[in-house]
Amino acid sequence: MKRILLPLGAGLLCCTLALGQKLPFRDLNQNGKQDVYENVNIPLDTRVEDLLNRLPLEDKIGLVIGTGMRLPGVSSTESPEKVAGAAGNTRPVEALGIAPIVLADGPAGLRIDPTREGTEETFYCTAFPIATLVASTWDPALSEEVGAAMGAEARAYGADILLAPALNIHRHLLAGRNFEYFSEDPLLSGTMSGHLAKGVQSQGVGTSIKHFAANNQETNRMVLNAIVSERALREIYLRGFEIAIKTAAPWTVMSAYNKINGVYASQHKALLEEVLRKEWGFEGLVMTDWFAGDNAVAQLKAGNDLMMPGTPQQLEQVAQAIDNGELSIHELNKNVRRILRVILQSPSQQGLPYDNSPPLDRHAQLARKVAAAGAVLLKNEGGALPLQAGQANVAAFGVGAYDFIAGGTGSGDVNEAYTVSLVEGLANAGLAIPAALRSRYEAYRDAEKAKLPEKRFFFELLPPIPEMPLESKAIAKYAQTTDAAFVTFTRNSGEFQDRALEADYYLTAEEKNLLKNVAAAYRKLGKPVIVILNIGNVIETASWEGYADAILLPWQGGQEAGNAVADVVTGKVNPSGKLPTSFPLDYTDQGSDRYFPGTALPGAEEEQVGMLSKGVPSETAYQDDIYVGYRYYTSFGKEVAYPFGYGLSYTTFDIGAPRLSDKAFRGALSVEVSVTNTGSTPGQEVVQLYLSAPDTVLYKPARELKAFAKTSLLAPGQSETLVMQLSPKDLASFSPSERAWIAEAGTYKVLIGTSANQILHEARFDLAFDIEAERAIADLKPTRALEVIKP
Ligand code: BGC
Repeated sequence: MKRILLPLGAGLLCCTLALGQKLPFRDLNQNGKQDVYENVNIPLDTRVEDLLNRLPLEDKIGLVIGTGMRLPGVSSTESPEKVAGAAGNTRPVEALGIAPIVLADGPAGLRIDPTREGTEETFYCTAFPIATLVASTWDPALSEEVGAAMGAEARAYGADILLAPALNIHRHLLAGRNFEYFSEDPLLSGTMSGHLAKGVQSQGVGTSIKHFAANNQETNRMVLNAIVSERALREIYLRGFEIAIKTAAPWTVMSAYNKINGVYASQHKALLEEVLRKEWGFEGLVMTDWFAGDNAVAQLKAGNDLMMPGTPQQLEQVAQAIDNGELSIHELNKNVRRILRVILQSPSQQGLPYDNSPPLDRHAQLARKVAAAGAVLLKNEGGALPLQAGQANVAAFGVGAYDFIAGGTGSGDVNEAYTVSLVEGLANAGLAIPAALRSRYEAYRDAEKAKLPEKRFFFELLPPIPEMPLESKAIAKYAQTTDAAFVTFTRNSGEFQDRALEADYYLTAEEKNLLKNVAAAYRKLGKPVIVILNIGNVIETASWEGYADAILLPWQGGQEAGNAVADVVTGKVNPSGKLPTSFPLDYTDQGSDRYFPGTALPGAEEEQVGMLSKGVPSETAYQDDIYVGYRYYTSFGKEVAYPFGYGLSYTTFDIGAPRLSDKAFRGALSVEVSVTNTGSTPGQEVVQLYLSAPDTVLYKPARELKAFAKTSLLAPGQSETLVMQLSPKDLASFSPSERAWIAEAGTYKVLIGTSANQILHEARFDLAFDIEAERAIADLKPTRALEVIKP
């Protein structure tokens, strides 16, 4: 094995490069027969056992450690990777024809190098909308469709496992990777990500559901100790994973960087062996996040089977541990078995052909459809949107309109061929934008971009371009000549850092000035001002929303974002997106704010963690407990700017009173709700079922989302009946003392609404006796007492 030293920033990175050659099974062995493990007609477990018995120890060790990380822009003398730009590979076993499998990011689509040395061919992938937008559709079938397209691209480019979806909880709005994640609510996160994973795997490639678990911030992500009550872990931070895993049966799970209650997630046996496998029945392999944890042997013993991307030191550590008896062959076999199960099913091992030509045009259309379906209309005073036929001349203010952001940076990024900006989208839809304004912004954009520093490493998030100053006189002139104004604000973020308050969560002074000046000029003439929020996660809105007639939140909508926004503002698509995350009045209103991003441990000194990150050993105590997002705002009586579940439509709906299948809960209950489109435009509505449970013993949030359903596109006057189900676990909370999910006897309120704050109907049912919905195997209690907030 060849090792090379690669310079990386100030440090040195030692990598063993991927070999990447394709090694399909031999057709016949020397005796003219297929061996058992090669015979696809024999049950998988029998094949795995046969292969395991043939593997020399050295290869077993090789299989649990990935082949290292290749960094873009760093050339080497090694043979090319199978898929350039993939995040990692497993090690081949040439003598037995075991192929290396290819693992590639990520959550918004496949991330590989778009160009390769020695060929003119390109390898672009579709940048789909970010996960938060997919969640905003509240449409699991659509999420599955996106997953299937991502999976098809992985297949077409020769990857075996897509390192997605990512479904950590939006615990704090400044968390740098929230855009990769779905929601503040575990039911919505788990359902939407589970269907996405199912879609990916329908294409014969695997997923890696990540980052398991409690990976809710970037600050000190690799050394952070998240101290979380067992109840909050189970109800908030693990529940989404449980739903996703039961929905999709993913091939793999990626453990998180952080520690949970003192133990690295990748070294946490109770989490990986007991919760994930015994309690939930997960049968795949667990891999580390890249360079996570500090002890490969502890990881293997904890049920973390594969170290990624893999280092030579880890190979040595494991070999030594076998030598000195710290790790038994029996233990190692357990890990290897799980890896072999995945390898044997992989496209690479089956030698399946791939042609490097996914249907990018078709996928672009899907990206556009989803981006429009997940756009959330936050405000629409006086019916400012959709634009009418007489409003064909529009001005686009804000440099972001000319430089739309498809998605965030880091491993959640995609190398797409293009991104349609807002102005391009509006122009494609036949709207006229003043040419002088457009060329002025474009010249400014190009000049500012030229000033940006070179990226120091490929994941680096470069500073944003400051807003272009624009004189009031110029704005007044455009107000005369155009029918409506768009004001766009963009934000970007990505792994390695959490977001800032200034110039990120808050608008800059220049942005606010621009909005105020545009509002003054257009409103004087009775012309609407439409704000477009091209952002990855929540920003402050309460202080400026009064200047906007309409606010549309199309998030970071992937490569077709501009076209999708045009579809919504012209009324071609009636918005039906709903917030998957609350917009508080201010960030300090969050239940988690006082505890984010945690505190450095006494005497802690900055240390190099793994290969890529430095950090100060620190901890964050989740004293906000189960009160995350709307669970906090509704229980503590906090007003918000826009509540969870909220989103406007161009039409109106009548939502009928819920019909319960029974007055008492006897193991299951179904709730039927009729929805009628009472307006004049076809549209879709999302009905949300919140439950308010009795709190005789365990304290309860004011309400919790327990089911939801979205109508099909209803024509004016058309009705549809939606059916939602409740199971015992939906009624239950986790009782750490009883070590079980308990539904307490009493009266339950079924709250039917269109957001966490907009409850339209209430119905009740009774539960005669306490029910133990499920018993826990793992004990996840923090080792020290954690004082948690209560209303
Ligand atoms: C990220 C993972 C990603 C991996 C491989 C890590 O830095 O946390 O989400 O899959 O890199 O690129």
